[in-house]
Amino acid sequence: MKFIDLFAGLGGFHQALVQRGGECVFASELNEHLAGLYEKNFGIRPAGDIRSVDLSAIPEHDLLCAGFPCQPFSKAGDQKGLECPQWGNLFDYVVAILKLKQPRFFIIENVPNLIRHNRGKTWSIICDQLKAAGYAISFERLSPHMFGIPQKRERAFIVGDRHGLSNFAWPIPDDIPQTSIRSVLDDDPPEAQGLNGDHLRYLETWQEFVAAFPKDQHLPSFPIWAMEFGADYPLDGLTPHARGYRRLGKFKGAFGMPLAGLSPQQAEAALPSYARTTLDHFPAWKIDFIAKNRAFYA
Ligand SMILES: C[S@@+](CC[C@H](N)C(=O)[O-])C[C@H]1O[C@@H](n2cnc3c(N)ncnc32)[C@H](O)[C@@H]1O
Repeated sequence: MKFIDLFAGLGGFHQALVQRGGECVFASELNEHLAGLYEKNFGIRPAGDIRSVDLSAIPEHDLLCAGFPCQPFSKAGDQKGLECPQWGNLFDYVVAILKLKQPRFFIIENVPNLIRHNRGKTWSIICDQLKAAGYAISFERLSPHMFGIPQKRERAFIVGDRHGLSNFAWPIPDDIPQTSIRSVLDDDPPEAQGLNGDHLRYLETWQEFVAAFPKDQHLPSFPIWAMEFGADYPLDGLTPHARGYRRLGKFKGAFGMPLAGLSPQQAEAALPSYARTTLDHFPAWKIDFIAKNRAFYA
């Protein structure tokens, strides 16, 4: 099984496929540092930017692997998708190689949001292009924790076979194995760097919080902004900046600090940093997080 490793990164596909008897015949990775590590680990110097590669010179292969950059589709990114000028068109290169070299199989990996991006339109464009390149396709969301590795990192995987996928089934275990981070930690690692005192205190405090949390309740799924605990500065209408910091005397700032008697500068400094915006109104998502934190604290 000859494979190529596009957007090779640290070589996740390479590592897995070589263990299965595969042979890597070509890799591409833009980032010099990653390309250097790839060469050190696997003895193959990846070609750089796929946009500058002569695609016809890519060796014949049975399987194309591609984890193309996920920033344009990620919930954490700008969501520009296939229109993203920096990354969006990289998928076109994958399709171009599939059409030109016609490997029998492919495996593509990306963030799960790829499927929902732009209300599913991006996903249907991608599927249509892969089918038009001659492949039967199937996709699944998988995460290492489903396979006994103690990490939750869901990814969308798409597989394709030019001969059809009627005999293919995703290898999803019936029972998700119990995993523990302890299984991959060394007891006494010689090169470990210690956490500083502050970080240890943060961790201990969170641990205390989790331990004290009622077992029959769900832990919050919104970000905890502890500065809202005790705060009641107004969220509706104008922001503190637009309203004027001298008008906040009857309210409380971060961690419930009374704002009465403070100068405008002191009142501003006593608010959480994210509440010191110069916008006239808080965006709805921020009001939502703040309101949830206050209700949670109450
Ligand atoms: C999501 S990561 C892939 C991770 C990889 N599957 C692994 O196992 O580490 C995407 C990679 O694509 C690389 N990349 C981005 N643009 C590229 C381009 N034009 N040509 C080649 N590689 C590129 C990035 O540097 C990044 O390492």
